[in-house]
Amino acid sequence: MIPLKEAIAERHSLAEKMPFNQKMFRGELTSAEYASYLQSQLEIFSTIETHFQLPHPAFERSGLIQQDLDELGVEPKRTEAGKRYLEYLQRLSQEDANAHIYLNYLALLFGGQMMKSKVPGSGKMYEFEGIPELVASVRQIQKDSWAGQANMGLDFVIEILGELDKIHT
Ligand code: HEM
Repeated sequence: MIPLKEAIAERHSLAEKMPFNQKMFRGELTSAEYASYLQSQLEIFSTIETHFQLPHPAFERSGLIQQDLDELGVEPKRTEAGKRYLEYLQRLSQEDANAHIYLNYLALLFGGQMMKSKVPGSGKMYEFEGIPELVASVRQIQKDSWAGQANMGLDFVIEILGELDKIHT
């Protein structure tokens, strides 16, 4: 079986190249745009944290994302793709949800760390204690058979990023 990282490489690259992410990376998102992004993150992370067990308690993100949103003080917009992703996540088994946990939490631990200094507000969502231990807790349970679910998650994320661009133009 193809290693998981390789199996998601094509869609990961597509996600990285989405104009909304590129704008974030260049530090050009407005507070209104970033608030809507945080709202879509809140939908993903609070759904996971309400319905499933995390590989490590320090992964918990919903409270921090809510604090980031409160700090911005902007009314966020919701995306249809975000709603579809949360409805999809709710119905998964813990085992299938683990692939989405891998996808969304490692996204914050890797690419996300480069974003902290580039987004409006203090970026508490990106603050983790003991990153190596957190990465190890995912690696311990990781399976190459998660590729299908992880790629499905990337499809949702790509749709969300496309919609965020549209609703803010
Ligand atoms: C501008 C956007 C992004 C950048 C710059 C970025 C960058 C990176 C980098 C540098 C790594 C580490 C690669 C390595 O091990 O050498 C990584 C890994 C990863 N990223 Fe991203 N990323 C972005 C978006 C995303 C998104 C949207 C997701 C999914 C929601 C995601 C999920 C992951 C995952 C799951 C890994 C770990 C792969 C593995 O080692 O198994 N990334 N990313």
